[in-house]
Amino acid sequence: MRIGCVSTDIRAVKADMVVVNLFEGTKRPGGATAAVDAAIGGAIAAAVRAGDFAGKLGETLSLRPSRGLSSPRVLVVGLGKKEKFTADHARQAILPVLKEAKRLKLSTVASVVHGAGAGGIDPGVAARFGALGAALSAFEFDRYKEKKAHRVARFLFVERDAKAFPTVRAGVSRGARVGEAINWGRSLVATPPAELRPDDLARAARRVGRGIGAVAARKVRVRVLGRTELSAMKAGGILAVAKGSPAPPRLVVAEYRGGSPGSPWTALVGKGVTFDTGGISLKKWEGMEKMKYDMAGGAGMLATLRAAAALGIRRNLVAVVPCVENMPSGTAYRPGDVLRMMSGKTVEILSTDAEGRLILADAMTYAVRRYRPKEMIDAATLTGACIVALGSVNIGMMGNDEAMLSRMKAASAASGEKAWELPLHEEYFEQIKSDIGELKNIGGGEAGAITAARFLQEFVDGTPWVHFDIAGTAWVEKEKRGYAPGPSGAPVRLLVQYLSS
Ligand code: BES
Ligand code: MN
Ligand code: ZN
Repeated sequence: MRIGCVSTDIRAVKADMVVVNLFEGTKRPGGATAAVDAAIGGAIAAAVRAGDFAGKLGETLSLRPSRGLSSPRVLVVGLGKKEKFTADHARQAILPVLKEAKRLKLSTVASVVHGAGAGGIDPGVAARFGALGAALSAFEFDRYKEKKAHRVARFLFVERDAKAFPTVRAGVSRGARVGEAINWGRSLVATPPAELRPDDLARAARRVGRGIGAVAARKVRVRVLGRTELSAMKAGGILAVAKGSPAPPRLVVAEYRGGSPGSPWTALVGKGVTFDTGGISLKKWEGMEKMKYDMAGGAGMLATLRAAAALGIRRNLVAVVPCVENMPSGTAYRPGDVLRMMSGKTVEILSTDAEGRLILADAMTYAVRRYRPKEMIDAATLTGACIVALGSVNIGMMGNDEAMLSRMKAASAASGEKAWELPLHEEYFEQIKSDIGELKNIGGGEAGAITAARFLQEFVDGTPWVHFDIAGTAWVEKEKRGYAPGPSGAPVRLLVQYLSS
């Protein structure tokens, strides 16, 4: 779907459907909604009066007026209560719009910028969230369907005010580019595990800078390390987890040089387990199919780099993604094994299902040694315990640097992608001390999301660092908050916001 904008009056736009909005509880529509309503003879106000349409967030009213507009259909979308309105609601409101357009098999949709008028949000910001919503809502993963989903060809944002138009246009362009990058990552996450093994993920990563324009692409460079290099670097964690699978491990190192030469790096480390069976500590069968999403952190970090390049963010970024498949077999690593990690620390294995922290530890050591980053962020579908603690609403966030954590909280609020800090107090370290080596790879039944993060902290070597546990947020089970079921693209929106400010 192409996302663009035009500076004209919504009543004069030729599209298959025009979209206006209404806040919940509004008796008399204002702005563009009032103009459209007047043109079509008051059908919107009549529906509100009759109680057919309340304006709840995401609620829609579909009309087919016989005259008054250049387009044959009108869709009114609810924005919810005005007092509760945030920019992210401008994104969420788009999903039902696209669903309706797909159902009607339309080719062009034209919409006002939601939230910029009565919503009181800066037009550029409202446009950015709207375009992001449009891009995300257009996502379809129908590679394996004979009957393909209907594709809406064009989504236009309409801004009548010529003064606001340049701001709106810039916002639309930014939102669309971020959405495209997120969708790029989402299709990797949705791909079945037999078709996305470590080398496939690495091959996809090589193309992270493709399709975002030549200028951006020139600043992206991707290297892929294989077993030989990993052995030479003594990446004991990555090599051990990979042992159970015939598919060899990969370490993806993707650089984006958007910063001035010599300016410090931000390292983005993402878990790339292409399928997690648990290994010898085999998972139960129920829900195991979902473990294809265990590379969502890696895909998210690559998508973040893609978005940053597409936006021309002035920073040097390096994404480091260890790619492995965690399988049980006669060659697999075992509970009881003691690994020597790239950093030199030894780890006693109690469960081969706590594999994410092992590969991330080596990837973090690599990032710190090779790039000396000023800051490091990692994202991983790391623990079921994080889902128990925070459900699917918040990303679990932990870190070692107050200033960085508070900037991350601000980015979370601004982006609408929720993240909640869990404590990393020193007392938790006791739980991961081993008798036979330095660390053990599980911390027992309590505080599992925290002990996993505390394990990772042993490998940051003092670098300011934030960890995102996205186990509960990377996959949407049923439609909510403007997300269709499937991969959500977490935590890209939050990170792009963080890197932009
Ligand atoms: N990829 C899983 C995390 C996970 C588990 C995500 C369940 C979604 C649902 C991770 O590799 C894992 O298996 N973690 C274990 C750790 C435990 C053995 C300490 C878990 O959370 O059960
Ligand atoms: Mn696991
Ligand atoms: Zn895992």
